[in-house]
Amino acid sequence: MGKDVIVACDFPSAKATLEFLDKFRGASPFVKIGMELFYSEGPAIVREIKSRGMKIFLDLKLHDIPNTVGSAMKVLSNLGVDMTNVHAAGGSAMMTSALNGLTKPDGSRTLLIAVTQLTSTNEEMMRKELLIDKPLPDVVESYARTAQGAGLDGVVCSPLESGIIHEKVGSSFLTVTPGIRFADGDIGDQSRVTTPELAKKLGSDYIVVGRPITKAEDPLKVYERCMADFVS
Ligand code: C5P
Repeated sequence: MGKDVIVACDFPSAKATLEFLDKFRGASPFVKIGMELFYSEGPAIVREIKSRGMKIFLDLKLHDIPNTVGSAMKVLSNLGVDMTNVHAAGGSAMMTSALNGLTKPDGSRTLLIAVTQLTSTNEEMMRKELLIDKPLPDVVESYARTAQGAGLDGVVCSPLESGIIHEKVGSSFLTVTPGIRFADGDIGDQSRVTTPELAKKLGSDYIVVGRPITKAEDPLKVYERCMADFVS
């Protein structure tokens, strides 16, 4: 695992998703299934994409009391996905419970990462709406340390924070980074964006790319551009 492009399949239905994945002719992207698709299609879409031999990041960002998250993770552990996540803001007890729920009786489990600060947020919003007045990098680092302390494998964060996390939390602690845009593309609702090339330089382990690929006329071509810029 490591150094890969994860394609965010933010589609409302299995039909739209599978038609999109059909365009990858021969390529086998690491696919992110998020809330929209999972709430619409349930576990069947996970099984269908797995049967195509693709890796899956199930991005449901669980955040609830420890018992509820642990029980939910126990159910999700049966889906055989490659990566899933929780919000670090749920705290260390919740993350430990998630990890326990995800661990099978033989000790094996899927990768578990924590969302730090959503890449759509910025310091102004954090100050005004969340009453967090610390600098964003400090908040992200603190979330990452808590996640690592709870035994998680890494965090979702901006590529701009990958360096700090590898330096201060650990070089093998995974950074999975959305907020990816090409220099000539639209940023949409993301605040802190980076190109695939810069994400590579900054040390991201995985980049998560949605609209630049899903809305492209030729998604395979854009995916291959991301792979070339980030992986090779
Ligand atoms: O379309 P776009 O490239 O902005 O998609 C980014 C994906 O990464 C979305 O599926 C979004 O939910 C997810 N994500 C994010 N920021 C985070 C965590 C997840 O954008 N901090």
